[in-house]
Amino acid sequence: MMHNADIGLIGLGVMGENLALNFESRGHAVCGFDTLEARRQSFAQRGQGRRAWACDSLPSLVASLRRPRRLLIMVPAGAAVDAVITSLEPLLAPGDVLMDGGNTHYPDTERRLQQLRAKGLLYVGVGVSGGEHGALLGPALMPGGHEDAWPLIGPLLQSIAARTEEGEPCCHWMGSGGAGHYVKMVHNGIEYAEMQSLCEAYWLMHQLLGMSAPEIADVFQSWNRGELASYLVDITARILRQRDPNSGQASVDLIMDTAEQKGTGKWTSQAALDLGVAAPTLAQAVFARTLSSLRAQRSLAAQTLSGPLAADAPARQGTIELLGHALMAARICTYAQGFALLQSADAEYSWGLKLTEIALTWRPGCIIRARLLGDIGRAYQRQPDLPNLMLDPDMAARLRLSQQSLREGVALGALHGIAMPALAGSLGYYDAYRSARLPANLLQAQRDYFGAHGYRRIDQPGSFHTVWDH
Ligand code: 6PG
Repeated sequence: MMHNADIGLIGLGVMGENLALNFESRGHAVCGFDTLEARRQSFAQRGQGRRAWACDSLPSLVASLRRPRRLLIMVPAGAAVDAVITSLEPLLAPGDVLMDGGNTHYPDTERRLQQLRAKGLLYVGVGVSGGEHGALLGPALMPGGHEDAWPLIGPLLQSIAARTEEGEPCCHWMGSGGAGHYVKMVHNGIEYAEMQSLCEAYWLMHQLLGMSAPEIADVFQSWNRGELASYLVDITARILRQRDPNSGQASVDLIMDTAEQKGTGKWTSQAALDLGVAAPTLAQAVFARTLSSLRAQRSLAAQTLSGPLAADAPARQGTIELLGHALMAARICTYAQGFALLQSADAEYSWGLKLTEIALTWRPGCIIRARLLGDIGRAYQRQPDLPNLMLDPDMAARLRLSQQSLREGVALGALHGIAMPALAGSLGYYDAYRSARLPANLLQAQRDYFGAHGYRRIDQPGSFHTVWDH
């Protein structure tokens, strides 16, 4: 057995195996373990002739590693991670670094970090984004946790990460505690919101303009050549173009319209509610998936509940242009919510998050990578304590050009009875945030009326209660 592996992977599923081979391709010796024999064999086969080998037990994996040992757990988030940690703990020595690369809920990471800190182990939660392909060729990595771990894992992780055009690795230290997994969670919240916004634009073109999937693919493809360029726009174009080999129909037209989810988008919305941060687009994207899953009820309701009065279909080309601008406005609003959440989380947990580095980390490699992220990074570079991304002069200028289109796009959806919860969520966020006055005066009065909760006045300091006429 060899005793000089630079890193050990636990869990050789698609992500674990691809990350392991990525490490190897960057010049690191890698060993891997999985409880499933078939996966160990597959890894051993793919590693043949390379400095990558499978171990048949956790003790042999640990014995194969150089010290201080560096291990990356790639098993499903939840109980499986705890089970691996329980088995590994007695085999490790103080100073060893244990990383979890799953989509773990950050409170779990914080708990495990404290538990292992007492034993002298350096625990790190690593957000990994980019899917199967990214894992092999260059993911975005968001590590955070024990403060002493970064010098021991930084070069290793940065060597496998995606790189920007300037050659910067998409892997920066996110901060202490659960920072890495928190940032990945917010990434996924934005991912949900972006996906839903794109789906709404697709649906408007399909339902209202009567466009076919390949025609809509052309639109997404052209958007991807401009300022809207992003991985999700790109894959949407590719998806819409694909045909089912048997029927010749567009593949997308054959897929059942019920969205699934594993929970990261929900966690992001819950975190926003916990911290009192408005993230309506992110939350609406989760609710949209939930509503889509009520397929049988929707079919019934389609026969029962009435829609709008007939309205004229708008002109195709103008509407397509309008939707492109609407998506840009919505994207800024979506990122504004995500970054506001990160800012509040940092104020609450003191992790030391750096928004510029997060924007940089999200540029290539991850699922939400988008041209706009370069400009978002520059916005936070100019003003690290920017209260809201929309107030950056560059973002405000873009919104000046695009907000009317977002308004008209949402109005079109409303007039024609096409649900646009994410785009409408972005518009509501934008309009509420830019309103010097809101109807919360009446809301405070209502609270005071039924509960004597008190209110403040605009013309005098202090707290007031009115004996309202009943
Ligand atoms: C990524 C993705 C990845 C996963 C999503 C899917 O960044 O690579 O976010 O982690 O594909 O978590 O989430 P849902 O199953 O909830 O859509």
